[in-house]
Order: sequence, then C-alpha cells, then structure tokens
Amino acid sequence: MDWKVSEREETGDVLVLPVWEGKNKPANSALNGLPRSSVINTKSAFKSRFDGKAGSKLSVWGEKCRVVLVGMGDLEKSSNKIARDAGAKTMSSLSKKDGTNLTVRFTTGWNLESMLWFIEGMMLRDYAFVKYRSKDKKEIEEQGEWSLDIQASSRYLKELSAGISRIVGRVEGVHLARDLANEPPNYLYPMSYAERAKEWAKDKPNVVVEVYDWDDLQKKGMYGLINVGKGSSRKPCMVLFTLNPNVNSNARSPCIVGKGITFDTGGISLKPGASMDEMKYDMHGAATVFGLMHALYATGHKERVRGIACLAENMPSAEAYRPGDVIPTYSGKTIEVLNTDAEGRNVLADGLWKSGEFDPSYIIDLATLTGAVVVSLGHEATGLWSNDSELLEKVHQAGNLEDEIAWKMPLLPAFEKEMTGSKIADVRNLGKSRWGGANTAAAFLKQFVPNRNFEEDGEQIPWAHLDIAGTAWGADTNAMVGHGATGIHVRTLHTLITNP
Ligand code: BES
Ligand code: MN
Ligand code: ZN
Repeated sequence: MDWKVSEREETGDVLVLPVWEGKNKPANSALNGLPRSSVINTKSAFKSRFDGKAGSKLSVWGEKCRVVLVGMGDLEKSSNKIARDAGAKTMSSLSKKDGTNLTVRFTTGWNLESMLWFIEGMMLRDYAFVKYRSKDKKEIEEQGEWSLDIQASSRYLKELSAGISRIVGRVEGVHLARDLANEPPNYLYPMSYAERAKEWAKDKPNVVVEVYDWDDLQKKGMYGLINVGKGSSRKPCMVLFTLNPNVNSNARSPCIVGKGITFDTGGISLKPGASMDEMKYDMHGAATVFGLMHALYATGHKERVRGIACLAENMPSAEAYRPGDVIPTYSGKTIEVLNTDAEGRNVLADGLWKSGEFDPSYIIDLATLTGAVVVSLGHEATGLWSNDSELLEKVHQAGNLEDEIAWKMPLLPAFEKEMTGSKIADVRNLGKSRWGGANTAAAFLKQFVPNRNFEEDGEQIPWAHLDIAGTAWGADTNAMVGHGATGIHVRTLHTLITNP
C-alpha cells in the first residue's frame, strides 16, 4: 500500500470519515475539497440518518468522490481495539472498483494514538492470500495497490508520518508471517522455510541466518527434531536468526523460539481426517519468529535479537518414530514418546536448550501446541505461561496493547511432576490423563529451559510460553484477518522488544 500524510484539502476517489458519536454535523474541515453536491448530501446524511454509533456505516454517493461515514461510537469509550477494529472493518468494506485513491480524514476527537490504531487496522486488513487463485490474482494485479492519503490537522503530520512508517514495518512482518503460514505444505516444508530465510537475509548487512540441516542436527545431537522429522522425505532443520549480531554491547538480548511443524499428520499416532488440512498452520510459531525478525529489521531496531525456528514435518512412515520410543535430546535429557502427535514439544526441547547458549535476557516460545488450549480459551486468547512473574506481566501487557490477548495460565509443580514421572525416561511427552493438556505441555517445555550458563543449581532463564493453537487461525471475531493465518503476536513481541 502506498501512503502519504497531508492536510485536509484534496480528496481521492473515496473519502473515509471516521466520526465519533453525537455530532449532527461534520467538522468544518471534514468536507474540504468535495464538490458542492457531495457537501450537501453528506451534511444531510448527518442530519437525518448518520449518528456515529459504533459499527454504523453510511456511504454517500457522489460523482467525483464517494464519502464513507464510519461511526466510531462514544469517544469516552474509545480504545485501541475499537479504533483498530474500525479501521480493519472499513478496509474490508471498500472495493477497488470505486477507485484506489483513498483519503482517510481525521477530525474532531482524534489524537495521534487513535489515528495510528485506525490506520494500522486498515493496513493489517489489506491482505489476501491469492497466489494460487488465478482469477483473483489477476484482478488484484490489474487493480493495483491502494494509495492512501492520511489527513489530519497540520500539527499532527510529522508524528503521524513517523508513526505510520513504523506501522508499515510491523504490518509487513505480520503479512510475511501470514504468507508463510498460509503457504500449502507441499510448497512450504522445513528446508524451503530455511531457503526463504536465507534469501531474506541476503542483502541485509545487519542480519545473519544460519541453518542446521539434517547432517548438522545429527552432529549436534538434536534428536528431538530428528525423531519428529525423520518419518518425512522432507528432512527437518533448525533456522537461527540474528538481528544486529555485531552491536557493541554486553547486554543480554531476547531469544524467540518457534514451533515449525510444516505439516502435522500426528505421525504413527495418526490424527483423524476431519480438518487435517489445517495442520499446515502448525508452523505458525516459526512463521511469527520470521515475521517478527522482519518487523524489527524494517522498523530499524538497533539492539540484538535472536530467533530460532524448529522445523519438521510429522509424517507416518517406515522411518517414523513411534509411541514407546525413548529419544535423547540436545539437552541430554531423554523423552519417553507416548504419542507421536505430541511432537511440537519434542522439537521445542532442542530449540529451547539451544537458546541457552546465547545467554539470552529471556526466552519466549510460540507454538500451536495443544488442542486443549483451544478448549480452554477458544479462539479469543493465546495461553501464556511463564517461570518469571515480571516477564509474564510484560508479555500480557504487550498483548493487551496490541489486542492480541495472552491469557495467564498456571505453571503448577503438579503438572511438572506429572510430566517427569516416566518410568523409563527423564520426561514423558504425554500427561497421565487428558485433563489440563495445555498445562502439562507447558510443564514439559519447562524441563528444557536451561539454567543460566547451564549451571546445575543455577537459576532458570526467564521464559514465557505462548500456546497459539487457537489464535493462529480460525477466529471469526478477529477483524484484522479475512481468512487463514493471523500473523499472531508479531506485534505483541515487536512492542515487547522495542519498548523494554
Ligand atoms: N498441532 C497440534 C495441536 C493443535 C490441535 C493445534 C488443533 C491446533 C488445532 C499438536 O501437535 C497436537 O497434536 N497436540 C495433541 C497433544 C496430545 C497428543 C497430548 C493434541 O492437542 O491433541
Ligand atoms: Mn501433533
Ligand atoms: Zn503439532
């Protein structure tokens, strides 16, 4: 999307006027540049029909320009969610058939923050995965990009412009994460993700991408990844991102780890057929890591940040790992495999342990880990667990700011006991019953979070776990997305990392 900011003078093909409730006439500057007939019609819409109630929308047709009045509701009740949602819903209601020159004009009641939220909502919603839909693809190419003119009082323009540049970088990151997650599993598999990461890093001087392929995994003893991935002809790998590797600071930096199961059949513990296609999204954790790295890069983040993607395809075959196997991991701890469909935790075991080598300030993992978290929280919130109350609160707050709710869940000693109660290995990959399945999964992961400097009696590195199984796709209440992957938590983590 092309964009610029300007004063409220000219209008494009479409003029969007988001208005707070309770005005029976438009602000003085709202109708600048419109033909007389449009001015009269819009004014009369305000008098008779349009009340600015939340969710209301009215289109005033005009020869030169179509005016879209967007009701914002009570200004007193405004929030980031209300403004972002309104922007997104407005975007989804527009058609390029009316022209692609779009003017959004902010008047009474808008401040810098709320304008940015509205624009962010519009930009996030301006996305469709049409790569494989010949007709849509052609139509979108023919119509071209939106060109957006954002108009406000002159005193806002400088900050508005800086704020929007930042938003554009974040939105690119979100859309990249969606692209990766939406990609079909025959096109996106572990090594193709790795190639995309390499390609992305190529012309960026302050970015390094390293790939541990099949042979490297063997050499390093990353048998969590190896075992999950060995049933597939598409071999597993680990992708390590570093932004700003050479910053001159002894300061510790964050490390973000993502589950990247490019397709999850369940393996030998095969999943039922219904909706199995959705398991192409089982790499959304890794997609978020990649999208986040891009967002940080594109917004000019100056500190070091690391990302680790644990990539494998979970397939049943003669080569596949089985229930009953005991597998070693990079940490040295062994896992009793009781269900090959609980594979995410096995690959994350290696990724979490690896992150300890960077002596990170904190570790956050993202994973479409359990169906149980969807039972608990539906599609409305990500499950959030942490071994550190300060980190827990910070991630939660960052999620609230971005309206990507991360709901606090319990990391109880009883769940850890359950998962370390194997008779023949150090850790079991399945709880003793199906109850609390998202919590036992989190308790499993905690066994693979290293202590500082790997000291046996040292303190565990602050760590948070985000189970995004319900939020990576499928929420019809998420106004930012039309269909498919959401790009969840690119913005949450961007905010967390850039506002420490
Ligand atoms: N990828 C799934 C979790 C999942 C299920 C995500 C549905 C989104 C929607 C994960 O690998 C899995 O299969 N988990 C099992 C764990 C169980 C065997 C302990 C599950 O949730 O059933
Ligand atoms: Mn699974
Ligand atoms: Zn899975």
